[in-house]
Amino acid sequence: MRIAATVLSRAEIADRVKRLGRQISSDYQGKKLVLVGILNGAFIFLADLARTVELEVEIDFIRVASYGNEAESSGMVTLRKGPELDLAGKHLLLVEDIVDSGITTAWLRQYFAARHQAASVSLCALIDKRERRKTAVELEYVGFQIDKGFLVGYGLDYAQQYRNLADVCELEP
Ligand code: IMP
Ligand code: MG
Repeated sequence: MRIAATVLSRAEIADRVKRLGRQISSDYQGKKLVLVGILNGAFIFLADLARTVELEVEIDFIRVASYGNEAESSGMVTLRKGPELDLAGKHLLLVEDIVDSGITTAWLRQYFAARHQAASVSLCALIDKRERRKTAVELEYVGFQIDKGFLVGYGLDYAQQYRNLADVCELEP
């Protein structure tokens, strides 16, 4: 697999992340906010987003897997690591790298609704890629909408490679 093209430059991403941070700061003013990063893909996005949010926030992580080493979701989501903070009564903002089929997002919504007595659960995805959507999901904050293609970089991987690219790029089909 080779890189075919840059889809989102580091400058474009930085600008959009700053604006998302501003919006989140204003929406959650005076509230107890927990940013919950979805590992591994969201680690860079969360790190950048957290630094643009001008609120007192807590940060936690959850790890789920649905892919193996393939480019398409297996459709089965498994929990690898749960959150560790006490989330009761707090406002959760789940931070995702990319929403593709929607299966992971739907699973996360159910997981947090069922167990954690949070005051609210919202989702912020860097990329909303609708071409292969299988489950309708609500996304409160979206960085970019991209039609199609398999994307890597800025945390996104293909078989654990390319996460450290500073731009989001498309792989050759
Ligand atoms: P979904 O359950 O199909 O919506 O997939 C969600 C997860 O699949 C994301 O959190 C990503 O980790 C991964 N994923 C989906 N599309 C891509 C892509 O284009 N590049 C890299 N990872 C992707
Ligand atoms: Mg991934």
